Amino acid sequence: MNNIKTLRVELGERHYPIYIGSELLGQPELFTRHIAGKQVLVVTNDTVAPLYLEKTLAVLRSTNKVRRCEAVILPDGEQYKTLEVLNRIFDALLSKQFDRSVALVALGGGVVGDMTGFAAACYQRGVGFIQIPTTLLAQVDSSVGGKTGVNHALGKNMIGAFHQPRCVIADIDTLDTLPDRELSAGIAEVIKYGLIGDAEFFGWLEAHMDKLLARDAASLMYAVERSCSDKAKVVAADEREGGVRALLNLGHTFGHAIETGMGYGVWLHGEAVATGMCMAARLSAHLGWLGHADVVRTEALIQRAHLPIRSPRTLDTARFIELMGVDKKVQDGKIRLVLLEAIGNAIITDDFAPALLTAVINECREC
Ligand code: NAD
Ligand code: GLY
Repeated sequence: MNNIKTLRVELGERHYPIYIGSELLGQPELFTRHIAGKQVLVVTNDTVAPLYLEKTLAVLRSTNKVRRCEAVILPDGEQYKTLEVLNRIFDALLSKQFDRSVALVALGGGVVGDMTGFAAACYQRGVGFIQIPTTLLAQVDSSVGGKTGVNHALGKNMIGAFHQPRCVIADIDTLDTLPDRELSAGIAEVIKYGLIGDAEFFGWLEAHMDKLLARDAASLMYAVERSCSDKAKVVAADEREGGVRALLNLGHTFGHAIETGMGYGVWLHGEAVATGMCMAARLSAHLGWLGHADVVRTEALIQRAHLPIRSPRTLDTARFIELMGVDKKVQDGKIRLVLLEAIGNAIITDDFAPALLTAVINECREC
């Protein structure tokens, strides 16, 4: 398969393409169209580097346009998504005397993408960058939309900036080497699009989940394309999350509490979001919004994707609620949550009794 789908994130002068397809890493023109200067620094990690760095450097160096192309390799893991490790990117940029014309290239999953984007937002007050997402989660979500940043010990993704990439190159061949657990984590974010605004896609996922898990190329390609298309529309409508973009955080306030509470990297982001979406569905049902049958459908699909539907036994309710209070959606001390009125229809609200939230946290813990 060598067809390329091109979507566009419509942001006026800062619009950019998302290329989705097979064998994209071998196509220099996809890169050079979006690199303004002659210098490139590729940022990756020590898991992805042995798999795809050589190929990426070779394609960049094969062009006449790029005169200097170097790499910095970060340690792999959510626990390294910190300001301290971010500094290694700045060390590389400054020690190698890269100037403001440098383009950064993020080669990896969401952690590398978020950190590289944040470095690009900060270096000399802002340079361009390209996303090459190599996990399903990064291809369907984190590489699109310009949210960048790092974690703080007290809260997930609490330090960051909005900084849009110049393009996203999602080569689905890179998913061949992805561990099964990571594939499932990415599917959590795919299911999210169905739940928040695309009931038809949710139905497609119910019909194609086995094919996705078996890495059927056409199914993966469709899932990436439809997810990016859904996300691109939301980002174009509300780049800086003044309104509708907050819906993309379905399950995330619960999920971030799990990730932070368990220690970064213990639960994968997609796993925590999966459980968080089940908790949001249950709370929505308690409020009389979502029917019981739709809670069952939601949990069944998430389980079929080999994702957890219950939160960890070791995270007690008081701590869970405290952690939920450290979230970018908290306003005037009130937790706001994305909840469901139906499959395919989400809203953001703080209109729920604290006792109901407590009940849901208790009910959704693993035995
Ligand atoms: P990740 O970046 O940690 O990647 C998962 C694992 O897969 C890592 O061990 C990585 O080295 C490895 N890997 C990556 N590509 C591989 C490949 N092709 N083959 C084999 N191994 C590969 O995790 P993730 O799930 O990609 O991203 C999660 C992060 O993304 C979280 O930090 C989350 O907060 C962030 N995120 C950001 C946004 C956003 O809008 N910016 C959205 C969702 C999630
Ligand atoms: N992943 C949430 C967002 O991009 O807004």
